[in-house]
Amino acid sequence: MKRMVQAWDAVPRGERVELPPDPRALQGLGRNHLLHTALADLVDNAIDAGATDVLIRFVRQGGLLRGLYVVDNGCGMSPATIDTAMTVGGRREYGATDLGHFGLGLQSASFSQARVLTVMSRADGEAAVGRRLRLDGGFHADVVPSLFVDKELRRAWNLPTSGARTVVRWDEVTRFPATDDPERVEEFITDTQQKIRNHLGLVFHRLLTAHRISIALDVEDVGIGVAPPMDVHPVNPFGYRSTGASGYPVGLEAVHGSTPVRFHCHIWPGRSTSESFRLTHGGERQQGLYFYRHDRLLQAGGDWAGVATVSRRLQLARVVVDIDDAMAPMFLMNPEKSMVTVSPEFTALAEAAVAGDGTTFEDYLKAAEDAFHRSNKRERKRRKMVPPGRGFSPELRSAIASEVPFTHPNDQKIEVRWARFESDAFFEVDRDRRVLWLNKSYRKALLGGRRGSVNDTPVLKTLLYLLTEEVFQGERLGPKDKDNLELWQEILTAAARSER
Ligand SMILES: Nc1ncnc2c1ncn2[C@@H]1O[C@H](COP(=O)(O)OP(=O)(O)O)[C@@H](O)[C@H]1O
Ligand SMILES: [Mg+2]
Repeated sequence: MKRMVQAWDAVPRGERVELPPDPRALQGLGRNHLLHTALADLVDNAIDAGATDVLIRFVRQGGLLRGLYVVDNGCGMSPATIDTAMTVGGRREYGATDLGHFGLGLQSASFSQARVLTVMSRADGEAAVGRRLRLDGGFHADVVPSLFVDKELRRAWNLPTSGARTVVRWDEVTRFPATDDPERVEEFITDTQQKIRNHLGLVFHRLLTAHRISIALDVEDVGIGVAPPMDVHPVNPFGYRSTGASGYPVGLEAVHGSTPVRFHCHIWPGRSTSESFRLTHGGERQQGLYFYRHDRLLQAGGDWAGVATVSRRLQLARVVVDIDDAMAPMFLMNPEKSMVTVSPEFTALAEAAVAGDGTTFEDYLKAAEDAFHRSNKRERKRRKMVPPGRGFSPELRSAIASEVPFTHPNDQKIEVRWARFESDAFFEVDRDRRVLWLNKSYRKALLGGRRGSVNDTPVLKTLLYLLTEEVFQGERLGPKDKDNLELWQEILTAAARSER
């Protein structure tokens, strides 16, 4: 068939019209943010500002959650910089180690969670400044009177090293529950703060470990006071005690143009209930590539960027990739900084990467699968145990469940309970009712000043469970069991007496 070559007309141009952005565009910002990812973005800003301490404060008034503060002791903002800062997409000159990037973080993080954003700050030798933006206020900011800014900056923040330089305040927080039911609010706070601490602990684990930043959370009840702060602890996704395969971790390297790209390949020894292994999604899906930029974690696994497919057998494999400036063009980061997209040449690089001793990515994946098989076998070979029941917290029970296979699921569980004894014996095994009774007269001493509850003294109960579990199995007590019980009773009773 004969082809006709047709002209394709370019679009002609007439006069111009101005199309200023509709302020409602702001409402679409940061839609993928969750409270904890939004807060991570504000912590990024504090770190860029050179802060050593960050405080995140929930504010409650009359039972209702009213607002949130993020306060830092960084360099603060001058009257000139605060207006750029409050401009959507307002970019500044970025330094080599900065975490900021798009000039969008502050607004998208804030407006994904709240309707009103107020920023109050004071830079060295400058006047205190404050600006307030409303989500429905268009591209206009209100100037906050400096008297109020001063008052806010001078509040009793729990910043250990120095006073507050920048205070970011959210009002009308849409992600807070609308209820003032104290129990539900309390539950929300506990739950949310735990999520925030987990996420920030993970994202900033390197900076936290290096003591370059500390982050704390607290709750203020207006007119009543502030509860003691809780620190964010580092959650290191590579925090296993011993490697799952000898010779690992291994550093593989490939060269892109003149840029070396390194893959630090780790193998966990087995599934674990530790926070470091579980992270946010339960661990199994946390295999894959861990991208860091300037020591901030951008993506916590979940993907192999085309080098492998996420699978059960690879769940012990985690790889560190530090993105430096030379490598940056190969990556795209989503604005929420929670995901990294790689260019196709990156996959090819990973496939070509080798270690000094010749180890390839494929070798590594194979070693990780083998380690998983070994750990699985180890777990399968373990003796079945009667599951723990009342007296153990749900978390503790699931930690035990993930390590040991249980006898039949319908089996009566082993309870550990306190009771008044006639004698001074420390414990008593009630095989028929599957209860391990503990002598209440030692309880106070063992609690060491803490309050008792159904699930108290977890270490003691777990040790006793591990020690005596076998005694609860079988038709009858054998002579060996009887002798063991006598032995434990004598020794533990003596130990318990010296606790008093
Ligand atoms: N906590 C802070 N301390 C000092 N300056 C800040 C702080 N938060 C934001 N800024 C200023 O606001 C600007 C805009 O922040 P943001 O919208 O997050 O964009 P980006 O971080 O990508 O630059 C920052 O570049 C910085 O100049
Ligand atoms: Mg930012």
